[in-house]
Amino acid sequence: MHVVQTIEGFRKALDAERAQGRVVGLVPTMGALHDGHLSLLRRAGAECDVVAVTVFVNPLQFEHADDLASYPRDLAADAAMAAGAGVHHLFAPSAAEMHPGEMLTRVAVARLGDGMEGSCRPGHFEGVATVVTKLFAIAGACRAYFGEKDYQQLTVVRRLVSDLSFPVEVVACPTVRAPDGLALSSRNVHLSGAERAAAPVLHRALAAGAAAVERGESRPALVSLAMARIISQEPLATLEYAEVLEEDLRWRLLVAARIGNVRLIDNIEVQAP
Ligand code: PAJ
Repeated sequence: MHVVQTIEGFRKALDAERAQGRVVGLVPTMGALHDGHLSLLRRAGAECDVVAVTVFVNPLQFEHADDLASYPRDLAADAAMAAGAGVHHLFAPSAAEMHPGEMLTRVAVARLGDGMEGSCRPGHFEGVATVVTKLFAIAGACRAYFGEKDYQQLTVVRRLVSDLSFPVEVVACPTVRAPDGLALSSRNVHLSGAERAAAPVLHRALAAGAAAVERGESRPALVSLAMARIISQEPLATLEYAEVLEEDLRWRLLVAARIGNVRLIDNIEVQAP
């Protein structure tokens, strides 16, 4: 595996791959890789000729300095995991490499970045859209793999690719969960034992919402209420939102909650009633 820290080096490496006729699979991450990330790397490996992973904890998408500072970082472990997954190029730039001067440019995707994560984390999606735009500008033509776990992020990224005509095909990958239903997340390492035991409440809330829809509940507000009720029954959890997005024949159920100081999100798709 080729580890590269410079924008120029990463760009040249992927240009050389494409010059050989190879299709590049790109997996943007913030590191602290887990089995969720691994599923994206494996999928990219199965569908592309070469796989490139980016590891960069993007300061632009963090609202609070302490959240940024406490974000788990372990490049050696990430490199071992990426190499084990058959990754060819690992791009791990420093903050100074990505942002040598003051960053004046921002990319904002209107409406899709408002609400839910956008309301709870002001500026978050501008930070995500800006860094993803920059990574796409560096990486060039590729298939880019994103997890459905961050569903709103996925819709924002899809839209910026189509609005800005990036030569990128976005591929959505299903959420990887622990056996008890908790969606894998780099933030899960911050959960205490009791909090970890409480955390599957997000998935139970989604399951309750799905069950209500399956029983024929067609009022989104009541489905949201069913999900909110489950989370409010868990003493260690504080609900941030429980929402339903109506998308043609499918509905997307989404929840966010704090368990102690750890903010968790999850979502599932159900057939519309
Ligand atoms: P990060 O949280 O590291 O996630 C990187 C990618 O892995 C995202 O596409 C995310 O949706 C996916 N992912 C995380 N947990 C997953 C799980 N349990 N199952 C499936 N996929 C999962 O998302 C980001 O980084 C950043 O916002 C980024 C896009 C890299 C921009 O900085």
